Amino acid sequence: MSEQKATNIHWHDGTVSRSEREASLSQKGCTIWMTGLSGSGKSTVAVVFEQALIHQGKHAYRLDGDNIRHGLNKNLGFSAEDRTENIRRIGEVAKLFADAGIIAVTSFISPYRSDRDLVRALHDEAGIPFLEVYVDAPLDVAEQRDPKGLYKKARAGEIKGFTGIDDPYEEPGNAELHLRTDQLSVDESVQKMLDLLGERNLLD
Ligand code: ADX
Repeated sequence: MSEQKATNIHWHDGTVSRSEREASLSQKGCTIWMTGLSGSGKSTVAVVFEQALIHQGKHAYRLDGDNIRHGLNKNLGFSAEDRTENIRRIGEVAKLFADAGIIAVTSFISPYRSDRDLVRALHDEAGIPFLEVYVDAPLDVAEQRDPKGLYKKARAGEIKGFTGIDDPYEEPGNAELHLRTDQLSVDESVQKMLDLLGERNLLD
């Protein structure tokens, strides 16, 4: 848990409620949290999922690990501490998007269960739906895909602390959806995510 550094600060409530914001957008906000190894298909599935939602007339926004690390989180690396801060910040950002009435779609490795659970708790406290999706391809499949050539570098010792090679990935125990992307097409994975939102009445 990150400490509160600032003192003498006070929460200032607005007069517009979340349900009023959602009514003005004709949709409900939520966070879909995709977690999994590098190369498991998170970003690929997230891109098509976001597109499918937009085509249905929904407001959705994708927050992607590699992209966010170019801006908001450019000062963070891959130590355990930095990964935790990466996920904490993005958890807060996703929560803001969802509070605004948007469907926030995040695709971060988010390797530590405790970090993901913290983000879930943040959403739970605020009454904002949080759905964790385990984007699961076995390590050998992710390594074979190696879309960015990073597993090869990690095996050669050119990258230290690479998730799945010499850094841990803690599998979710309570994900709302488990996608075996080595067995499903991208479209099938996207359909399962849309079905999940539908079951939770989040596409009404
Ligand atoms: S997380 O662990 O903090 O959640 P995040 O999803 O933001 O990671 O970024 C992961 C991406 O950074 C990978 O897809 C890969 O392209 C790149 N990357 C660079 N170094 C590493 C590393 N040591 N471990 C994992 N991914 C890395």
